[in-house]
Amino acid sequence: MKETKEATVDLKSGKSPKTAADFAKYFQAPSLKDAKQRGKEEIKVHYDFTISEEMREIGKGKRYHVRTYGCQMNEHDSETISGILEQMGYTPSEEIEEADVILFNTCAIRENAEDKVFGELGHMKRLKHNNPNLILGVCGCMSQEEKVVNKILKSYQQVDLIFGTHNIHRLPELLRDAMFSKEMVIEVWSKEGDIVENMPKLREGNTKAWVNIMYGCDKFCTYCIVPYTRGKERSRRPEDVIAEVRDLARQGFKEIMLLGQNVNAYGKDFEDIKYGFGDLLDEVRKIDIPRVRFTTSHPRDFDDHLIEVLSHGGNLVEQIHLPVQSGSSEVLKRMARKYTREHYLELVRKIKAAIPNVSLSSDIIVGFPGETDEQFEETISLVEEVRYDFAYTFIYSPREGTPAAVMEDNVPMEVKKARLHRLNEVLARIGLEQNKKLEGKTLEVLVEGVSRTNEEVLAGRTRTNKLVHFKGDSSLIGQYVDVHITDAKTWTLHGEIATKIEV
Ligand code: 5AD
Ligand code: SF4
Repeated sequence: MKETKEATVDLKSGKSPKTAADFAKYFQAPSLKDAKQRGKEEIKVHYDFTISEEMREIGKGKRYHVRTYGCQMNEHDSETISGILEQMGYTPSEEIEEADVILFNTCAIRENAEDKVFGELGHMKRLKHNNPNLILGVCGCMSQEEKVVNKILKSYQQVDLIFGTHNIHRLPELLRDAMFSKEMVIEVWSKEGDIVENMPKLREGNTKAWVNIMYGCDKFCTYCIVPYTRGKERSRRPEDVIAEVRDLARQGFKEIMLLGQNVNAYGKDFEDIKYGFGDLLDEVRKIDIPRVRFTTSHPRDFDDHLIEVLSHGGNLVEQIHLPVQSGSSEVLKRMARKYTREHYLELVRKIKAAIPNVSLSSDIIVGFPGETDEQFEETISLVEEVRYDFAYTFIYSPREGTPAAVMEDNVPMEVKKARLHRLNEVLARIGLEQNKKLEGKTLEVLVEGVSRTNEEVLAGRTRTNKLVHFKGDSSLIGQYVDVHITDAKTWTLHGEIATKIEV
């Protein structure tokens, strides 16, 4: 078992540091307060990322395992982490027990996400006991919270390395330090770093690919920890995004997902050019890649130019994830969403008018502090009016350091649970009604794999991202197929192959 810096500091000062703040004198530890600052500094883009010859030998003959929690941004970060590890000579290990390096790429969005990570970290004690050379690392959004780092320092001594969301490019050096140091290595920058291009990525499969277009978030919704864990909004240069998409098209990828915490704010941080998300999509739509999606949109920044570009269709699919969070203007105000119910509904009206057959999805929080029955009913009536194809629904979870965490919350948990249940019932009914309209239609499906429950059945997605099951040969995986829909369920469609489309 490794000692932490605690012992060393004890000898020096006679005092025992108990918090991440004390450790910060020796390590780079996080601070949510610092993370809140939004400086005016210009963001630099670095194109010179390399892994030195010496580092490329470090992982030879060793195996790694990355466990990812949370959103697609995190999934994609894990692809970068894996790419770096492979360039260091490591090979992947499906079994966590057989790995020499284990990294937990964590999510901080709700308390239950964090509880899960702490539970799993506890289990790692046994692996560490069996293999003292094992390196166990924690990265991702939870590492940005001092509360989490303190807890790991105090109770999870099996952890060797903690690094933050802005420190991924430092992984080779940090891993080396963790291997050769007796102390827990902590490097978490609370202030965002520059943009680092050209990091290697190990993409999963060769059909669908994620592409970051921007990092961070400046919206500061009062419930949300992301602006603190991911730093200020920083857009990748358009030419870098376009070059990556072109390269993916050349490699034969069939679908890309453009990623950002708030893609509609793309380009707002450019000082030298006036170039927004609509402009970017207008260029991406001319690239020969069959499907382009994006996530996540903030209703506030969804402008008319963007709607106009999306109305061209083509590879820009008619599906938009447009989180509303609440149907009550009063609650939206307390959430600092910066739009009203009426503004949101007007936006939906414009989108529906410009993009026929558009499929809308949402994120909705119930039980925000002080949410009344009437305010919750406004969420239900908005859902009925918009008719989402699906929505991710959550009970509000207080996040320390955010403004909502100190708001008085008089809604009992039982009431929150009942609201969630009721909302899910309404969404399921509408989802089924929407899907029923597709019976008898023939839809283009990108085949993703075999069904989890039946090997003879293939699973794929429509342009609107609906899951379709149909009988077919596994040679069709990665291809576009026309499927005649015969039976619609609440969250899946069932059908049979019509004809194969050449794309
Ligand atoms: N509690 C519950 N849900 C949250 N989300 C973000 N923060 C919280 C929180 N503190 C939800 C929002 C967001 C989605 C990714 O997670 O709906 O859109
Ligand atoms: Fe979780 Fe948000 Fe971080 Fe994604 S950005 S991993 S959802 S906290």
